[in-house]
Amino acid sequence: MSGSGKQFVIESGGRLHGRLRVPGDKSISHRSVILGSIAEGQTRVTGFLDGEDCLATLNGFRVMGVDIEGPQGGEVLIHGVGLHGLRAPSEPLYLGNSGTSMRLLAGLLSGQSFDSVLTGDHSLSGRPMRRVTQPLGTMGASIDTSGKGTPPLHVKGGQTLRGIDYHMPLASAQVKSSVLLAGLYAQGRTCVSEPARTRDHTERMLHGLGYPVENSDGRVCLSGGGALRATTIDVPADISSAAFFMVGASIASGSDLRLEHVGVNPTRTGVIDILRLMGADIELSNPRAVGGEPVADIRVRSTPLHGIDIPSELVPLAIDEFPVIFIAAACADGITTLTDAQELRVKESDRIQAMADGLMSCGITAEPRTDGIVVHGGRLTGGSINSHHDHRVALAFAMAGLRSSGTILVRDCANVETSFPGFAVLARSVGLNIKG
Ligand code: S3P
Repeated sequence: MSGSGKQFVIESGGRLHGRLRVPGDKSISHRSVILGSIAEGQTRVTGFLDGEDCLATLNGFRVMGVDIEGPQGGEVLIHGVGLHGLRAPSEPLYLGNSGTSMRLLAGLLSGQSFDSVLTGDHSLSGRPMRRVTQPLGTMGASIDTSGKGTPPLHVKGGQTLRGIDYHMPLASAQVKSSVLLAGLYAQGRTCVSEPARTRDHTERMLHGLGYPVENSDGRVCLSGGGALRATTIDVPADISSAAFFMVGASIASGSDLRLEHVGVNPTRTGVIDILRLMGADIELSNPRAVGGEPVADIRVRSTPLHGIDIPSELVPLAIDEFPVIFIAAACADGITTLTDAQELRVKESDRIQAMADGLMSCGITAEPRTDGIVVHGGRLTGGSINSHHDHRVALAFAMAGLRSSGTILVRDCANVETSFPGFAVLARSVGLNIKG
């Protein structure tokens, strides 16, 4: 398992000050490689996230015969092979910790002429895959999982796929994207309806690559058999990585921090809405569109926060940011309640339990619930945190040091490299007292 050994030590106190650009958006970086690989022509990507998850996707396409240069300084050049140009992999595709890679590739590989096997690390090997194999099966795909519906996935090639009209039982961008990617290879029209809005990077990028996609009222449709045309893709900074600093600057008295060139796609900005409901001082400026994605600079100044009931409709729009939102809740005045978020139990770790345990070991009362948590704002002490090898749990507790009365030790931080390479150096540059 990756993730052993490395730890962060955060001395208490400090404030966040200055400006920084966090690394590129993980979701958009994955999609740039997937769609660039099956486009016709050369796709140049800038701002690519050079983290382990996106590199797992990139290596997967190399193993399937795609010539990809980089990443170097965030630049990647993909020599696309067209929808039908991928080659049979000579080995299982190892996708590390990355659920996005596995679920999106399951859809894409369902439509290929060759067999493939998808594997992952200990965490990914325990994550639910029926949410994709079930709708893909209805389209005619043949995918075997373990008896529990977990990886490895054995995808049989040479199947004839048919378009479906799929009403997703859960709000998942990964499931939506997986079905749409299979839809590129299916006969007829594939539609996906979502019970709540989820991130729409796949639809936007397909559009940017010249593939017709209809999108209205929570329903996305496309028809198989078209072609994608190569383009340039500028990946904005990841709002999910920026979120750690938004919370850090909010809770550390005297902070004033600018986060530059952050992706603010409205399907991702739930964290800003939630923090503002808690009283945070967050200002967006210089709004612009970069390659079909909205981008802005974000200024955050410290201010006292108060507890809230988090509105359910914001849950899918902030799904990756809850670990650090719970840190904000621990520093807020009063009680914060989250419900309708059972998905958090099947992320890279069980994030409800991992965060509740970590908060309790720092002196905060946190009551885990089946579908959420109740966090009582209080005084953070120092503590020793088991991150469960989960990058977002580790990063959330790194920020807790800004408000804790003692040192915070976060164990098993190596997986921070999956989404936020260079975190400690960048965080130190704006004032976090972190060693690691
Ligand atoms: C992602 C979608 C989300 C998110 C994950 C990335 C994506 O998962 O948690 O980190 O890139 O599509 P779900 O779609 O399963 O909620």
